[in-house]
Amino acid sequence: MNTHELFFRQLFDYETWTYTYLIADPETREAALIDTVKEQVERDLNLVKELGLHLKFVMETHVHADHITGADEIRHATEAKGVVGFGTHVACADIRLDDGAHVELGRFRIKALATPGHTNGCTSYLVAGRVFTGDALLIRGTGRTDFQQGSSSGLYDSITQKLFTLPDETLVYPAHDYRGVMVSTIEEEKKFNPRVGGGKTKEGFLEIMANLKLAMPKKIQIAVPANLACGSPPSPGKPEEAPSIRQG
Ligand SMILES: [Fe+2]
Repeated sequence: MNTHELFFRQLFDYETWTYTYLIADPETREAALIDTVKEQVERDLNLVKELGLHLKFVMETHVHADHITGADEIRHATEAKGVVGFGTHVACADIRLDDGAHVELGRFRIKALATPGHTNGCTSYLVAGRVFTGDALLIRGTGRTDFQQGSSSGLYDSITQKLFTLPDETLVYPAHDYRGVMVSTIEEEKKFNPRVGGGKTKEGFLEIMANLKLAMPKKIQIAVPANLACGSPPSPGKPEEAPSIRQG
């Protein structure tokens, strides 16, 4: 491992086309997993163990509708704290990051950017020149906005007013890609994203989103309730609300 740079691994779940990310400070060995998948918990924990990392955080960009998170299982198997964004009210999160707030991962800061629209609680995480955009900004696409308190207008604002103001060279890592593309940049998405790039207006975006006519995700009926409990059935003993960390 290069001790100066953020350690980074991109992992893939072939059932749900989900990317999970493992990041770490190679010097302090502190690590975080972003957007885990329940069926892949063993894979992820094995990798963390093999690499001698200490898992500090298991983070969610939002409450997923297409797969069940491994967050709660991982929290129980390790000392990792569950981290979610400002508007994600799940019973099992330990830390809720408001817009602009951050957590520290060794020498690195993971900053939360509120990017609602796909869901009302979507948060992107910015660290060391990479942004993990969940289902807000996808590669040459965006998340859908037709359920989970989605808002096309809100998503357009989140992408154009927040994500597109990041430096052009910022690497974009989404929660999914259905064509096998693994990474993009803010510059590329500003130029080529067919929904929000190339100067697309909000009106144009609203029209595209209103006419997508997508089928519901196969797992939505089980995934959303399960993910509100971070992948485990809710237990009455758990705290209702995580403490919120404000701008920092
Ligand atoms: Fe999603």
